[in-house]
Amino acid sequence: MIVRIDGGRLWDAESGQLRETSVAFDDVTGEIVALGQGLRAEKVIELRGEAVFPGFIDMHVHLRDPGLTAKESLETGVQAAAAGGFTQVACMPNTKPPIDSPKLVADLVERAKVIGKTEVHPIACITQGQAGDELADYEALRAAGAVGFSDDGRGVQHGGRMREAFLRLKELGAPAIIHAEDETISGKGVVHPNAARRLGLLGIPIEAEAAMIARDVLLAEQTGAHLHVCHVSTEPSVAVIRWAKARGIRVTAEVTPHHLLLSETAIKRDDANWKVNPPLQSERDREACLEGFLDGTLDIIATDHAPHTPAEKAQSMATAPFGMVGLETAFALLYTYLVLPGTVPLTRIIEGMTSRPARLFGLAGGSIRPGARADFAIVDLQAERTIDGDSFYTKGRNTPFLDWRIAGVIKSTIRAGQVIYEAGEERLS
Ligand code: DOR
Repeated sequence: MIVRIDGGRLWDAESGQLRETSVAFDDVTGEIVALGQGLRAEKVIELRGEAVFPGFIDMHVHLRDPGLTAKESLETGVQAAAAGGFTQVACMPNTKPPIDSPKLVADLVERAKVIGKTEVHPIACITQGQAGDELADYEALRAAGAVGFSDDGRGVQHGGRMREAFLRLKELGAPAIIHAEDETISGKGVVHPNAARRLGLLGIPIEAEAAMIARDVLLAEQTGAHLHVCHVSTEPSVAVIRWAKARGIRVTAEVTPHHLLLSETAIKRDDANWKVNPPLQSERDREACLEGFLDGTLDIIATDHAPHTPAEKAQSMATAPFGMVGLETAFALLYTYLVLPGTVPLTRIIEGMTSRPARLFGLAGGSIRPGARADFAIVDLQAERTIDGDSFYTKGRNTPFLDWRIAGVIKSTIRAGQVIYEAGEERLS
């Protein structure tokens, strides 16, 4: 059946504008058939001036499935993703057991298909069991559907082992997606050194991140593999990546909404909702990330959605696990606090959440044009709300953005021509 969306304002990537026009898609092939006025259709979705963006893509989420489903399950994770306007997410392998076998990869892809909400692209382990030693079987994992490889949650500490991984990933044409953290530098730290001093906690020296990025860009240069750096958070990290790009090294990078919007100065007390790895850094680091995102050094936005249970996060920052949820607040936070004040153009945010991740990782979607997959995030940019954990679809409530006022409410999400989210729908469990 041909379905037409009328009354919306469609994102036009070329002009970076929203334009009042219609789009028609085929809900069987799941593809966009035409844009413009007067398109024939058998069914019409009538909007009231909402923005229609390409479905958002998040290359870094923790769905906690298998094994950690008290924090999140595949069902609640993909519903939270759809509620955030995401039509595709890549999930990290630090589950229990870690995603290091083709069966686990295929299982996630299949189960996500059955749930029928956001599409899931598993990222499999770099090292077997994420133990930092023996390499995983990349070829088999890739064949089962892994979109890339990462030991996220931890950095691969052994440079020689990482070099072997790069060599094999280069051969396979798959990206090494790195959590950059030299643990001999970060030690047992839990927050930025300034916050650590204020709160009587252990600090994470900021160079723990850039030291490993520097190692890995040099390994990427010599091996020719694609290096993708996760959640970049410091000024020296941005500088190293900028240098590597100028040198022609195949490196791409992501930045999270929390590292663009918050710095350690906002941490007023020992509250584990503010504990994340890498930590919230200084204002100078935050500004460098913003600059790096604006000039393209940091390519894409990724949430690092990392749900934990309320009991885990009720602990002191000294012992609570690292992480913040992000899927359901990412777009609105960036829109409200970076786009509306004029700090970042809307086009850069949308590109960082759609076309760039699609291009970098060879995914469908990411643009609204005939022949592209009918993936849309439909957003009421005028509507406002207050961030309230009880309204979340994720099981996690761990966010430092509670009670923040945001503009931009996701009204519905469409993936491959199927409505996968409508505001107010019932929770999956
Ligand atoms: O804050 C974080 N949480 N950073 C990570 O690298 C891992 C993640 C998690 O799995 O909770």
